[in-house]
Amino acid sequence: MTALAAPWPAAVADPQRGRRVAFEPMTDADLDAVCEVEKTAYAHPWSRRHFADSLASGHPAVMLLAEPLPGEVPHPKRGDGRVLLGYLVAMPGVDEVHLLNITVAPAQQRQGWARFMLDALVLWSRGQGAQWLWLEVRAGNEPARTLYTRYGFQQVGLRRGYYPAGGLQREDAVVMSLDLAVRGPGGGV
Ligand SMILES: CC(C)(COP(=O)(O)OP(=O)(O)OC[C@H]1O[C@@H](n2cnc3c(N)ncnc32)[C@H](O)[C@@H]1OP(=O)(O)O)[C@@H](O)C(=O)NCCC(=O)NCCS
Repeated sequence: MTALAAPWPAAVADPQRGRRVAFEPMTDADLDAVCEVEKTAYAHPWSRRHFADSLASGHPAVMLLAEPLPGEVPHPKRGDGRVLLGYLVAMPGVDEVHLLNITVAPAQQRQGWARFMLDALVLWSRGQGAQWLWLEVRAGNEPARTLYTRYGFQQVGLRRGYYPAGGLQREDAVVMSLDLAVRGPGGGV
C-alpha cells in the first residue's frame, strides 16, 4: 500500500452549521498547531517527534479543517484562518491499516467529528485493499472505547502494561479491530 494519496473525501458542508470542512494532509508546517491540540487532548500526548517520525515514514496523516463560524477565533492559530477540528495518523500494513492516533480538539468534541474521520479512514483503507482496521486504546479511555465499540470495532486482545501512566505506573492497552468487509460505512453497521 502507498502513503496517503487522493481518495480522501473532498470538502463537505458541515450538516449542522453550514460551513465547509475539508481533509488536508498533515505536514511539518502544521506540527505547532497539531501539538498544541494534542497537549490539550491527552494526559499523555504524543511528542512532536512522534508526529515528525510518522510524517517522515510516509504514514497517512490528515487534518480536518473548517471555516471558522461567525465570531469563532481559531485556536490554535493557522495561517489560513481555518479551525483545526482534529486529525488522525495511520500506518498501512499488508492487509490492514493500523490507526495510531485520532484526536478531536476538546472544543470540537461530541459533534460527530471522530465518527466522520473514521468513516473517511474506512473508505480510504478499503480503497487501499485493506481488510482490517486495528488500533490500541488505553483501558481507561472510556470516551474512545465507547466511540470504537459503537462504531463496530471488537476487542481482540489486551496488552498488559502497554502504556506509561505517570511515574512507575503502566496502563493496559485494549486491542480492537474492525472488519472492513462487514462494518463501517457501506458495510452494514
Ligand atoms: C475519543 C474522541 C476522539 C471522540 O471524538 P468526538 O468527535 O467527540 O466523538 P464523536 O462526536 O464522533 O462521538 C461518536 C460517539 O462516540 C461516543 N463518545 C464520544 N465521546 C464520548 C464521551 N466523552 N463519553 C461517552 N461516549 C463518547 C458516543 O457514542 C458518540 O456518539 P453520540 O455523541 O451520538 O453519543 C475525543 O474524545 C478525543 O479526541 N479524545 C482525546 C484523544 C483520544 O482519546 N483519542 C483516542 C485515542 S485511542
